[in-house]
This record gives sequence, C-alpha cells and structure tokens, in this order.
Amino acid sequence: MPKVKKASKSVIKLVKGMKDILPNEQAYWDLIRNKVNAAAKDYGFQYIDTPIVEATALFKRAVGEETDAVSKEMYSFVDQGGEKLSLRPENTAGVVRAYIEHGMLNLPQPVKLFYFAPQFRHDKPQAGRYRQFWQFGFEVIGENDPIVDAQMISLSYFILQELGLNVEIQVNSIGDDSCRPKYIKTLTNYYKDNKKDLCLDCQKRLLKNPLRLLDCKVKKCQDLAKDAPQTVDHLCDECNKHFTAVLEYLDELDVKYNLNSKIVRGLDYYTKTAWEIVETSEEGKLNALGGGGRYDDLVYLMGGRQTPAIGFACGVERVINKMKDVKASLPENWRPDVYVATLGPEARKKALHLLLELRKEKVSVSEDLAKTGLKGQLESADKKGARYALILGQKEIVDGTVLIRDMENGVQEVVDIKKAVKEVQKRLEHHLIAKVLKKSK
Ligand code: HAM
Repeated sequence: MPKVKKASKSVIKLVKGMKDILPNEQAYWDLIRNKVNAAAKDYGFQYIDTPIVEATALFKRAVGEETDAVSKEMYSFVDQGGEKLSLRPENTAGVVRAYIEHGMLNLPQPVKLFYFAPQFRHDKPQAGRYRQFWQFGFEVIGENDPIVDAQMISLSYFILQELGLNVEIQVNSIGDDSCRPKYIKTLTNYYKDNKKDLCLDCQKRLLKNPLRLLDCKVKKCQDLAKDAPQTVDHLCDECNKHFTAVLEYLDELDVKYNLNSKIVRGLDYYTKTAWEIVETSEEGKLNALGGGGRYDDLVYLMGGRQTPAIGFACGVERVINKMKDVKASLPENWRPDVYVATLGPEARKKALHLLLELRKEKVSVSEDLAKTGLKGQLESADKKGARYALILGQKEIVDGTVLIRDMENGVQEVVDIKKAVKEVQKRLEHHLIAKVLKKSK
C-alpha cells in the first residue's frame, strides 16, 4: 500500500451563500426538472439557455438601477478586456436580449420560452436565500391577451401543485405608463408626512422607487403600508379592463388566488398583472416560491419594437425546502437490475466483458470490482437494492457458467455464461409483469 499523507493543509471552504447539491438531494432536482419539462411540452414552450455572464448595462436597463437586485446584490466585475460584466441576477433580461438579438420578433408570435438555470444575488444568506440559486422560468413574448396572464398564473400554480405543494397565488395589477405615474404621486403624498417613521431604506425608496415601500418587510413600514393607496384603485380603463379579465379567467380555471395590493415585485420592468406564488409559514409569514408578471415595455426598452410579454420564475431551492417540509413524495430511488460479483482475478476480467454486454442491452448494472471479498460484494448488492446478482467465481470460470441469485429470496441458479444476459432479461420481464399485475389488483 502506498504511504498515506496525513492532512496538514488548511481546507478551502464553500463560498458563503453558495450551496453544494449533493447526490442525496438529486431526486428532488430530477423530479422538478421532469415536471417542468413535461409542463413545458404540454403548454408548448421551448427551452432556452442564455449565458450566466451578461453586460452589466443589460441588467441596469432591464431590471432597473435602483432595484435591490442591481444596486446592492449584483456580482459585477471588469474583465481582462475592460468590459463591465455581471453574473445574471435573473433570467428575463437575458431571454429578452436573445429574443431581440436572434430576430425572434420575426417568428410567429408569441414566442414561448422556458429555462432552468442558476442566478446570482449577493444578498444576506439565510434559510431559503442563497447567493447562487436556481430558477425555472417561463416567458411568453408577443401576446397581450389577458387570457395568457391567467394561463401563466395557472401554469405556475399547477407546477407547484404537481410537486405536492399547497400554494396560493397573490395577484395584483401595478398599471402601466398611463396610470402609474399618477398613482406614484398619490403614494408619495401619502408617505410624505410619515417619512421619518420609515426605515432608512424606505426613506431612500420614497425618492427613487416608491412602489417598493409597499412590500418592505420592516414592521413599522408594513404598518404604514396598510392604509396606503392601492394600485388597483388607480388603474386607467385599459389596465382595469385587463385585470378584470385576468381575474375572470382565473375563476374559470379554478385557481385559488388572493388580491394583494402589496405585490409590486422587486424588478422595474413589470406592467399590469403581477403575482407571487406563496406558501404560508408556521409564523404566518408569506414566503415567495415564485413570482412573475407582465413586462409589456421591456422589449422596447431593450431596443426592440413594442412587444407585450409576460413570465414568471420559481426558486428551485425554496421549492425543495418546502417539499422537504411537507414530506412530498419522491419517485423510488434508482436501483440496479443486476449486481455483478466476482471472486478471483480471472473472474474479475470476465466480469468486465459481462458488464459491457449488460450495459449494451440497457440492463442497469452495478459492481464493486475493486472489492475482493464475496460477502462484502453481496452486502453491497443488497444495500443498492439490486434485483439480481450475477456471481462469477473460479468454478464458474472453468465451467463457463455464472450464478444468478435472486436478491429477494436468495434462490440461486447456474446458467451458461453465454446466456446470462438473456436469462437476466427474462427474469426482469417476469418481475415487471408481476409488479404491474399486483398494482392493478
Ligand atoms: P424574482 O421574484 O426576483 O423574479 O425571483 C423569482 C423567485 O426566485 C423568487 O420567488 C424566489 O423563489 C427565487 N429567489 C429569488 N432570490 C433568491 C435567493 N437569493 N435565494 C433563493 N431563491 C431566490 C424574477 O427573478 C423574475 N425574473 C421572474 C420573472 C420571469 N418575471 C417575469 N418573467
């Protein structure tokens, strides 16, 4: 055995706010990816990947310079060529950039895109808040009809329900260019006299981003927000008509929703419909698993022609945390069909070929060829949940045979090694039929 060096160097640790996704968590990730992919297919969305790194100017213009995500939380740097770049804090800006840059304006509209991708925000790390986190998101670009708003809200609701979560939709309309400026004036007037009672952040927001005063999490700001003028009472006719239609369609779709005038969203590009998908924590606090809204001006703002759009994104880690809380059921863990166990050097060589053959026939296999003891190997086969073990020892090598062991009842049978794969397949088929019959009883 080579000499093993004792640990003496300092360990370089995970960066604060980042998270390893270990093998024992992957079942959640697989399940969510599968549900998202299936829903995307059903609803006619196509997958898009945009780069993690984009021009800083993209987020400043699309998301807004005064938003927390851009002004406080963005990972920005100047690269070796002097370009100002940022890790994306969200994905809508990149998708819209790609939509314009690749001439998707000229495709039949709407263009329906979805993604499953990491995002970065240098926020204060805490439960459910990471500096790298994943989102799955859906965007419909090029459609104005309120029926699409209702369908998108319903899609966000449906995916989380499919994952076993009991969520609620909080919905609002924040108006558009023709009614929001007037509303902001009314809102600013309401707060002017109480400015000193606001938290320091909100005192700044009052000047730069007054809408955000409504969803501040500080208690004294929340108290003041309770009696603040509501966006829905200040909508122009067009926004009012649109919002009423969205709610009617939601009723039609049987989606449980609450009107919540405090949903103003943290990013600047939203117009009209805004919603969050929330769960209520034990302390009664609303925790957002996802959020979205219309962004009818964003394509134009980014250099394209005026194109209405709507989308949402959900935080994967938050969804998983919630799934764990409610003990949502996961699909059965992967288990190998066959475990190949060996005894002796010749058997190990033969096993290499047998494994190749089994894999070629799409039989799922497992092994620990580096282990020499048969007992340990069979224990491992048991732990991994293998249905059958194929055992090759000195005697089998000489006879040209292999032992098939049923791992459930320990019954063993000798078969010709040339027929081993076929024999395994036959048994697996019987196993499957028996399982289906048992289920249908
Ligand atoms: P957002 O509300 O900023 O919207 O983020 C969507 C979801 O991402 C949140 O509801 C939350 O679940 C998750 N999330 C946000 N920040 C963190 C964090 N630091 N750690 C863990 N999870 C987090 C957007 O990003 C918009 N782009 C959504 C959208 C798509 N709007 C239109 N289209």
